[in-house]
Amino acid sequence: MKQSLIIGAGGIGLAVAELLCQQGDEHNITIITSNPTLLRDKRFNVLLVENHSEQQVASCLATLSIKFDYVFCCLGLLHQEEIQPEKNLSQWRVDSAMALMQANAFAPLTYLVHLQKLLSKECKLAFLSARVGSISDNRLGGWYSYRMAKAALNMAIKTASVELARSSNKVCVIAFHPGTTDTKLSKPFQRNVPENKLFTAQFSAECLIRLMFQVNEKDSGKFFAWDGQEIEW
Ligand SMILES: NC(=O)c1ccc[n+]([C@@H]2O[C@H](COP(=O)([O-])OP(=O)(O)OC[C@H]3O[C@@H](n4cnc5c(N)ncnc54)[C@H](OP(=O)(O)O)[C@@H]3O)[C@@H](O)[C@H]2O)c1
Repeated sequence: MKQSLIIGAGGIGLAVAELLCQQGDEHNITIITSNPTLLRDKRFNVLLVENHSEQQVASCLATLSIKFDYVFCCLGLLHQEEIQPEKNLSQWRVDSAMALMQANAFAPLTYLVHLQKLLSKECKLAFLSARVGSISDNRLGGWYSYRMAKAALNMAIKTASVELARSSNKVCVIAFHPGTTDTKLSKPFQRNVPENKLFTAQFSAECLIRLMFQVNEKDSGKFFAWDGQEIEW
């Protein structure tokens, strides 16, 4: 029986949990979410947090003694009532940038910090990033805060992969770009996406799970797209 942890049960996170669940008894699935409606779902072991702050993360993970084989961190934020991706420099605000940094970079890294004793020796961890967080891939500009936050997440993953490789364990930690996926996060920005390039959450989750079953410790510290291609940092 494999132990899987899904952090953040939005569109893609929940699809990952549901697909793993369909693999029969092979996966025991724990979800950490701020969505209380999931508590009713008996397919999963659901741990509720008020938000994904450092204090909540620490106390939630302190209740666990599981060794996870797979960790899928699917947290992320692109827009909120008052926050919209910037089209140009003059739209950039510190408060909005901080909120995006917290959701996309600080919260995922906080989970990794507090998960260290809960990882199996060959644990594989995927952190949902985005291609727009690649510095070398940035040709269009715009979306300053989201790009900065995902670039910060990418650096955290790369740095953690170097540290984790020093232990005798064969842990593999990767960044993953799911492609534009039909979820709450992308909803306002789907207009110009060709129909065949807008993925369902199920499709993105399938791509992620397939990749997770393939990668090993030699892939640790890499950034992969939904199709398995590596993305330059
Ligand atoms: N959808 C796309 O087109 C797309 C493209 C590229 C990359 N991504 C990345 O894929 C990941 C999953 O996104 P999604 O499309 O599934 O989006 P989503 O449906 O909006 O889910 C994102 C989840 O992140 C958590 N979250 C929301 N606000 C947060 C905050 N302020 N701080 C910390 N966590 C917060 C929530 O988890 P709980 O409700 O469980 O607490 C939420 O359900 C994200 O990292 C996103 O950046 C998505």
